[in-house]
Amino acid sequence: MELRDGDKSRYGGKGVLKAVSHVESEIQRSVHGLDANDQKGLDRKLCDLDGTPNKARLGANAILGVSLAVARASAADRGLPLYAALAEKPANLLPTPGLNVLNGGRHADNSVDFQEFMISPVGAPNFREALRASAETFQTLKSVLHAKGYSTAVGDEGGFAPQLKSNEEPIELILEAIGKAGYKPGEDIVIMLDPAASELYENGTYEFWKSDKSKKSSAEMIALWKDWLRQYPEIWSLEDGMAEDDRAGWQQLTKELGNKIQLVGDDNFVTNPGLFQQGIRDGIANAILIKLNQIGTVTETLDCIAMAGGHGYGAVISHRSGETDDSSIADLVVACGMGQIKTGSASRGERIAKYNRLLEVERELGSKARYAGASIYERWNHSVQA
Ligand code: PGA
Ligand code: ZN
Repeated sequence: MELRDGDKSRYGGKGVLKAVSHVESEIQRSVHGLDANDQKGLDRKLCDLDGTPNKARLGANAILGVSLAVARASAADRGLPLYAALAEKPANLLPTPGLNVLNGGRHADNSVDFQEFMISPVGAPNFREALRASAETFQTLKSVLHAKGYSTAVGDEGGFAPQLKSNEEPIELILEAIGKAGYKPGEDIVIMLDPAASELYENGTYEFWKSDKSKKSSAEMIALWKDWLRQYPEIWSLEDGMAEDDRAGWQQLTKELGNKIQLVGDDNFVTNPGLFQQGIRDGIANAILIKLNQIGTVTETLDCIAMAGGHGYGAVISHRSGETDDSSIADLVVACGMGQIKTGSASRGERIAKYNRLLEVERELGSKARYAGASIYERWNHSVQA
């Protein structure tokens, strides 16, 4: 729970003077003198001090700021880069990025119901070549869109959001761009989707309010994903393919496709260890999206990632659509060694900040650096038969 001032005369109510004052008064008084190297102890103290289940009193924004600042200070004091300070074992795995290059859903004013269409350079030999392949594909996509008379203005996460006409068109355009950039779709670069299906779900059905205005049942939604996977075997990962409230649908999706592709839970888990545990028990998804500012401390974030690892789930470390140029998630993904990050397109400074940090880390690790590439997908065969 982010604490905003709610004073409509400042920043439309989004000001954070209260959260800042909590850091400067109550929080600073209670953490002063603690051991900065004891991140767990600090984070526990912050949660106790807040006293609510969702950090509503002091604000998750206030608490996470302190949690991360202490992690950084402690790393600096120990002479370690942040990723090494946060890691429990030697960290040398650079993540496979997912770059959100085309947008629909609530992120765009077009006829595409699904929110994010990402490219992921699984075939590159290392992170810097992976980023190069992605950036080249992104720039080629720009020319492809331009040639078709589409807008190439970018949205919040740095992807394009042109007036596309159908839900399939983004995939077709991306495949064309990958090829034209000189890469092989499904081999060098694959596709990840985040349709954000919760946004379509109302009264037990999925409403395609932007494209053909059709309504689909859970079973029809699952059939649609299977169709897409048959048609586009380049899709290796599907996030929020079902709505957070459609638990039975999520279970069925996992039953039918869980051994074929990565199924990432975001809206249903919200980086909350309790909700995630319940999802694991119910056989929902096989990977989790991790957003630091959703749970609100470094320790709880690492716990959630450890829970994923312990149950054979993947973990995708994620930015938010609203971001700053803070690059902590780049260090976090290397520290946890889960090998996946989604942090926007190859544009907009606050997205590039994370990629630049990963380039630095790769250079710093030198010959010890490894690139996750396609290895994270080894347990799925990606082939959906009719
Ligand atoms: P956000 O989500 O807009 O909540 O940051 C992006 C996502 O759905 O992954
Ligand atoms: Zn999502």
